[in-house]
Amino acid sequence: MTSTTDTHSEGQRGWLQSVRWNGEQLDLLDQRLLPEEIVYLPLDSVHGVWEAIRSMKVRGAPAIAIAAAYGVFLGLKDSVEDGAISREANRRRLAGEVAKQADYLATSRPTAVNLFWALDRLKRLTQKLVQMDISHNEMKQAILTEAIQIQAEDEETNRRIGEFALELFEDGMGVLTHCNAGGLATAKYGTALAPFYLAQEQGISLKVFADETRPVLQGARLTAFELQQAGVDVTLICDNMAGAVMKKGWVQAVIVGTDRVAANGDVANKIGTYSVAVLAKAHGIPFYVACPMSTIDLGTATGEEIPIEERGEEEVTQSFGKRTAPQGVKVYNPAFDVTPNDYVTAIITEKGVVKAPFTENLAKLFEE
Ligand code: MRU
Repeated sequence: MTSTTDTHSEGQRGWLQSVRWNGEQLDLLDQRLLPEEIVYLPLDSVHGVWEAIRSMKVRGAPAIAIAAAYGVFLGLKDSVEDGAISREANRRRLAGEVAKQADYLATSRPTAVNLFWALDRLKRLTQKLVQMDISHNEMKQAILTEAIQIQAEDEETNRRIGEFALELFEDGMGVLTHCNAGGLATAKYGTALAPFYLAQEQGISLKVFADETRPVLQGARLTAFELQQAGVDVTLICDNMAGAVMKKGWVQAVIVGTDRVAANGDVANKIGTYSVAVLAKAHGIPFYVACPMSTIDLGTATGEEIPIEERGEEEVTQSFGKRTAPQGVKVYNPAFDVTPNDYVTAIITEKGVVKAPFTENLAKLFEE
């Protein structure tokens, strides 16, 4: 596997795409190396995609989902038509392979529901394709087309989320965000960061405060990086500074992304989000959550049921490239936390802005 170092930025605004399909394989931006190096890893196997998701080379709920969709296709690429059986039997066999690859990719990370959403979407498509009079190869191609479509839809979705979110902000406001729910975490624009890009397009000035987001530093390495690259006014703060910055009156709103919204509006997001929500409430600051509909999981009743990933201790004891804690110390490292719905002012989706009562209003959104 040879990786490519990309020194040029894409497009006029310097968009860096985290997931690129190059016609034959996936070129994945290694987010572990940002902001120091821009390196694309060429991935041509489902195992490579699984590992990239698990090790957070690709991360952020929608980006994981997109990568996994291509991963399913990569897992089928060596599958050939069996001349000894019928076209229909070949399609059934391929459907079995899709299910197998999807189930495998579903074991990569547990919290972001977008991953399972994308994999289920491919499985459902496959069930339809089995009924159609198409060749094995055409069926494989249809699966790739769906992965490409998932990526294209995400870009459009995020722009709409950004438009709805921007209506909640006013020129000159300070807005705090946690983790990275930006272009790097999605196909483009991001969810929580989308309004900042749209504000910039429209000449609206917003001052963004980015929490550094311990232990993996998505806020420092990714949010500060992508906003700065785009020329958005961003100030990096350590996580433990959020309260002080709010107390100074510099923050008029908080906006974060999410990995899963339960049916009652409880929100799982990067560890530390709950603390930010509590601080926001204490200071009378609205706390907004931005996400695509695919992040809302009506099958999970409350945040209590959301599986929270726990990651290795080295993220906490050596996250600055050197040991910062004594050998053998006990470590607790949950990657996400759950913010109860009563801390959430509104959830912003591509279909509009949802407020309490969340159980009723989120369900309505799916009926529309
Ligand atoms: O562990 P990560 O970096 O994948 O966590 C990412 C987040 O928590 C994001 O806020 C969330 O996935 C939304 S991305 C639009």
